[in-house]
Amino acid sequence: MHVIVVTGTGTNVGKTVLTTLFVRHLKARGMTVAAFKPLCSGERSDALNLAKALGSVPVDIINPWYFRHPLAPAIAARLAGCSLCIHEIATHVRIHTGTAAVTLVEAAGGLLSPLASDGDAPELIKALKAYPVLVSVNRLGVIHDVRSALANAALKRKGGAPVLLMAPLQRDSSYQHNLNFLQDELGEDRLFHFPRVSSSTLSGRIPVRFEKELDRLLTSLKVKLAQ
Ligand SMILES: Nc1ncnc2c1ncn2[C@@H]1O[C@H](COP(=O)(O)OP(=O)(O)OP(=O)(O)O)[C@@H](O)[C@H]1O
Ligand SMILES: [Mg+2]
Repeated sequence: MHVIVVTGTGTNVGKTVLTTLFVRHLKARGMTVAAFKPLCSGERSDALNLAKALGSVPVDIINPWYFRHPLAPAIAARLAGCSLCIHEIATHVRIHTGTAAVTLVEAAGGLLSPLASDGDAPELIKALKAYPVLVSVNRLGVIHDVRSALANAALKRKGGAPVLLMAPLQRDSSYQHNLNFLQDELGEDRLFHFPRVSSSTLSGRIPVRFEKELDRLLTSLKVKLAQ
């Protein structure tokens, strides 16, 4: 079981966009894929997007825990009178991953957002023995956000987490400097970036420039791509 946990430097950075692109890209390459957004709060659109990309998987399998309050899952769970531990989340993923060659798990919020009663995304990464990938948005401040997340031991596993920078809606003057700086610091093989595209492009056929970057990213996550 090859598990990838998609985490981020915060909420709304592009984790679901990357996870759904991974699903569609791996399927198009003839590979079997499972995907989960185990914890949703406020609404379930992430899980519904994954369900659409996967095809025939019930949303309750993709997202077994859904909380009404739009808060970090551990807080929303407490308000709902529910206690949830990392082991339960990892067990759900293991049971429902079946024979998939690649299993994708989108964590909630940022790396240290409260996830469960006994741990957050770093503990989930360890419990699943997963390859982590860190998503962030290329805007002023991203260097700090990426560096502080990468300082966490869970992102030092398996040779160090690759970092994906999503282009923002509007570039600020730091855009190219951020890319250059992080490329120097991490090396070309660990830094990836996606352009900003329209929502119809995101849901249509995956553009070639995305395909190349997705292949490069999957290779850095040690996924053996079918030729
Ligand atoms: N490369 C991109 N091109 C166009 N839109 C993008 C791109 N990346 C992200 N977005 C948009 O940015 C918003 C946030 O992306 P997304 O929902 O993937 O973030 P997230 O990290 O999964 O958020 P959450 O923490 O709520 O799960 C969405 O509206 C998404 O469509
Ligand atoms: Mg999401």
